[in-house]
Amino acid sequence: MTVREAADLLLKARKVVVFTGAGVSAESGIPTFRDALTGLWARFDAQALATPEAFEADPALVYGWYEWRRTVVGRARPNAAHTAIAKIEAAIPGTVVVTQNVDALHEQAGSVSPIHLHGSLYAPRCSSCAEPATPPDGPGDEPADGRRLTPPACEHCGAPVRPGVVWFGEALPMDALEAAVAAAADCDLLITVGTSGVVYPAAEIPQVAARFGAPVIQVNPLPTPLDDICTVNLRGPAAEVLPELVLSLPPTAAR
Ligand code: OAD
Repeated sequence: MTVREAADLLLKARKVVVFTGAGVSAESGIPTFRDALTGLWARFDAQALATPEAFEADPALVYGWYEWRRTVVGRARPNAAHTAIAKIEAAIPGTVVVTQNVDALHEQAGSVSPIHLHGSLYAPRCSSCAEPATPPDGPGDEPADGRRLTPPACEHCGAPVRPGVVWFGEALPMDALEAAVAAAADCDLLITVGTSGVVYPAAEIPQVAARFGAPVIQVNPLPTPLDDICTVNLRGPAAEVLPELVLSLPPTAAR
């Protein structure tokens, strides 16, 4: 299937949802989770780092690991895929970006208020009273992925501050999930970019769009379980495929 077919769908669309996963940030140098060898979950034990039980058992290990990730992400820059998505948003005002990523590269590329389904590395909060905590300044120290770091104490109740991300076994932020489902049900095109489509309920978002009759374009170098619901599967890296797709949009100030 070709970019031309995808471009035809994009040109007709008025309400677009762009649904992204770790693959959209891969070409910014941020590791994905499940790619063989390079994925974070190939190198680290998710159960020991990304669950509420892990934080309770060893807060310094978990907090240090997320600080390392914040350092890696803080040094990364948006790539051509993030920029292309921001251009779609500028050219088609009814565009909603829904991301599973905890980085801020969509915002840095110019996307306005992307919906963060899995939280953010920049929104720490108290592990007990849930009061927002002040994020540390700057991108952090030299990356050291095994570094333990005692979490700061909450200014209100003294409990340890935790990363503002969703861990395995936790519910997604309800307002974000509801907004994403509503946008998917109402859109006339969904573009899914760089996600394995295996983590629920996030993976429902493209399926909701398809169930409500919207065509789905997928951008991914590899097949995923979402292949079957997609109208067009564009096999390739997001930072190459999306800029090509955006070239099809009519010339506007956005380009
Ligand atoms: P995964 O690591 O599961 O999947 C990344 C996807 O990106 C794979 O399908 C790759 O083939 C694809 N990919 C790799 N490089 C790419 C590129 N240059 N361009 C386009 N696609 C590329 O990441 P997610 O699907 O985001 O959750 O994972 C979903 C959730 O699982 C994450 O939000 C995280 C993780 O555990 C939490 O932390 C709650």
